[in-house]
Amino acid sequence: ANDMGSDLEKVLVSEAQIATRLDELAAQIDADYAGRELLLVGVLKGAVMVMADLSRRLHTDLKMDWMAVSSYGSGTKSSGVVRILKDLDTDLLDKHVLIVEDIIDSGLTLSWLVSNLRSRNPASLEIATLLRKPDAAKVDVDVRYIGFEVPNEFVVGYGLDYDERYRNLPFVGTLAPHVYQG
Ligand code: PRP
Ligand code: MN
Ligand code: MG
Repeated sequence: ANDMGSDLEKVLVSEAQIATRLDELAAQIDADYAGRELLLVGVLKGAVMVMADLSRRLHTDLKMDWMAVSSYGSGTKSSGVVRILKDLDTDLLDKHVLIVEDIIDSGLTLSWLVSNLRSRNPASLEIATLLRKPDAAKVDVDVRYIGFEVPNEFVVGYGLDYDERYRNLPFVGTLAPHVYQG
């Protein structure tokens, strides 16, 4: 485990693919929010890389805030029970809010977050996610900006962790079974 390379099975989305897709999403977001002030809400900790790289491509007037929620506990399956570990510092009333996520897996985290943030009466509320697992969706979440659809495998890197590791990989890859099978 000192060499992350041997823990990986394959690269699913390369660094170059991520960069190209973020360029496209940023152009769309800039066009959609032209003339409006935007509040990006990053969901800690997985969204840090997307937030950093997407926000740097935007020319729209924006602010950033962060929320930390816990839905997984120590397990690897989403429980659906979401707790707020760190709330926003910003009042959302009449703001144009864009939630930034790394991945939508079951969708439970985001569907909870959307109803929580909607109750704070923002002017608008949309979602941008780098990855979505279509096969894993237990709830329908309306997502405005999607980077890539990924298969229902254990993915890590570019913010996504397994037991808090691999977040720093510059690409998204799948983990070799020996890692999570012990
Ligand atoms: C991961 C991921 C999403 C969420 C998606 O976060 O970053 O936020 O799970 O899963 P879901 O669609 O099944 O709810 P996690 O709870 O692992 O926290 P982290 O971002 O700190 O890794
Ligand atoms: Mn997360
Ligand atoms: Mg995680």
